[in-house]
Amino acid sequence: MSQEPRAEDLRRQIRTADEQYYNRGHSDLTDAQYDALFVQLRELEAAHPELITPDSPTQRVGAPLPKGGSFATFPHLAPMGSLDSLMAADEVRAFVERARKLLELGAEDALTWSCEPKLDGVSASLLYEHGALVRGLSRGDGERGEDLTRNLKTIRNLPLQLAGPGPFPTRIEVRGEVIMTRQGFAALQQREETSSEGTFRNARNTVAGTLKLLDPRVVKRRPLDFLAFAVGFVEGREFATHGELREQLTAWGFTVAAPGRTAADLDAILAFRDELEARRDEMPYEMDGVVAKVDRTDLQAKLGRTSRTPRWALAYKFAPRLATTRVERIGAQVGRTGAVTPVAHLEPTELAGVTVRNASLHNWALLAERDVRAGDVVEIQRAGDVIPEVVRVFPEHRGPDSRPAAPPATCPACDGPLQAEGKFVYCSNLDCPAQLVGRVVHLAGRRAFDIEGLGPKQVEQLVQAKLVTSVEDVFDLRQKEAQLLELERWGKTSTTNLLKQIDNSRRPPLQRFLNGLGIRHVGESTARDLAQHFGTLDKLSAATNAELLAVDGVGDEVAAALIEFFASPKNQATLAALAASGVEPQAAERIGEGPLSGRVFVFTGGMSSMSRDDAKAKVEALGAKAASGISKKVTDVVAGEDAGSKLEKAEKLGLRILDEAAFVALLESL
Ligand code: IVH
Repeated sequence: MSQEPRAEDLRRQIRTADEQYYNRGHSDLTDAQYDALFVQLRELEAAHPELITPDSPTQRVGAPLPKGGSFATFPHLAPMGSLDSLMAADEVRAFVERARKLLELGAEDALTWSCEPKLDGVSASLLYEHGALVRGLSRGDGERGEDLTRNLKTIRNLPLQLAGPGPFPTRIEVRGEVIMTRQGFAALQQREETSSEGTFRNARNTVAGTLKLLDPRVVKRRPLDFLAFAVGFVEGREFATHGELREQLTAWGFTVAAPGRTAADLDAILAFRDELEARRDEMPYEMDGVVAKVDRTDLQAKLGRTSRTPRWALAYKFAPRLATTRVERIGAQVGRTGAVTPVAHLEPTELAGVTVRNASLHNWALLAERDVRAGDVVEIQRAGDVIPEVVRVFPEHRGPDSRPAAPPATCPACDGPLQAEGKFVYCSNLDCPAQLVGRVVHLAGRRAFDIEGLGPKQVEQLVQAKLVTSVEDVFDLRQKEAQLLELERWGKTSTTNLLKQIDNSRRPPLQRFLNGLGIRHVGESTARDLAQHFGTLDKLSAATNAELLAVDGVGDEVAAALIEFFASPKNQATLAALAASGVEPQAAERIGEGPLSGRVFVFTGGMSSMSRDDAKAKVEALGAKAASGISKKVTDVVAGEDAGSKLEKAEKLGLRILDEAAFVALLESL
């Protein structure tokens, strides 16, 4: 029987997934499913070479660029390839043996491999001319990429100018992966739990979506990092080994994929992969395998490449974290802001060492699109996120009673009315107990009122015991000390500590106070912008729509949310109750109050130990002012990596200049 229809079907499925993955930032297939299709097609074509078409996905990389896309395209100076994705030790052995054979190595001859993690992000290629970044491209179809320069430039650890004395290569393409750390992703999810941009499904999808945004200001607020792992075209510099390349990239100011390890033979590559897989969840960002590259570049050149992949580099993937189980029922959960989201309650199943009982379904629109129903057999995946996702449904196993899931008619926590807003459904009852726990935990968080000892468990207990029936009750707990002491697990010491912590938290900086209120669409950075702009709560709460829109980073949605928040009598009552309990946000600019009062700081370049916003917040908390441009009023300039023209100006004016180490030392000395 002819295999042609099967080959065509595989190609069609792969093309669809490619198109979704590269052009829309998400694909209906998991990586494992995609890889499996690809392997099937490759094997089929190997057995029947007459079936290979020039446009088969096995012959090229990536997807065609979107027609009439929003970004201009440019050619890569050297094509941007892909890697052979290997799933088993035997495949790695065959790859290593092929390389050794092609290099005509004898049994005694060593071949060193340079290994590093395979990062699960989105690749990009950066062109530097004489040390200056001129363009950043997406991979695109491997030959041409989309011009994402404006977005890529917002990434803090991506050098705009190569560091060091030079001379720099006349032209060099630095390649790497744009990623979001787990921590950064979690913070973003929390901040924008219900933003109109939709829910963020996982770090990789979020990176892909973020790089395609048209407004670099929004991109800038997303915690992206660039990790370099290769060089494409290069002119005016040679590298003897991949190890040397990594060192040079680091010296130029790049972060490289870590940990790196040289492997003397096959066994060392396999061991590195197993070790990293075991530590996978401890890593700061997602990785889905390891990459092993022949270390010497002369040998790389000798090995060359096939049309799609180099013969000197391989990717050895981690085992996919997939399992099949059954949905017991579709439930709903209420978040801190009242968003009611669907969750699939599953027959408990083991998945990479943990028992999974629930899977996230994100929102009702996505649920409807995927048509996940009670009783369905589903495939779930844990992508490093704590909560696994339903990635596939098998409708063929459905019984005759199967019905599509629908949002609940009333709030599952308080039975109150629900409101639909875009993809989301909200419970608008501020006293809803589910929201209350979330709101209090958020209020007590480190980036808000910073009350140690008020985590989810404790808050749930307090809410259940009715000691806390509203956010402001937290600040009246001292009057309920006796009742507190009666609760399980609350001894004298822990109670005294908590009450002391609460007392110490009554005068938070305005930005942390605002963040703690949990106003919809107002996360940590918006709170900071608002605090800086208005200075006091009174001024902010009296601001008009136009005044709000004048704040950097505040758009229509945020302005509307603020107006609505302050217009609500219920919220006004909360604010009044907080004030009556002695809660007093501190004005944002406390000039003359701290050890740095009278000093004006400008930050330029990137710092590795903190973000620029954090650095600003730190000096402001110490009484100094932070300015954005160099002027005679400025007293201190903190120059991080790749500091540019501001540093030059500051030097001309003879201002005090601190590097990152000196700045950190200054903060620590105060
Ligand atoms: S080296 C000639 N190193 O995996 C190929 N790639 O399937 C040079 N990737 O497109 C790529 N981590 O987006 C290399 N440490 C690493 C990587 C890595 C992730 C990605 C990259 C590439 C894809 C290949």
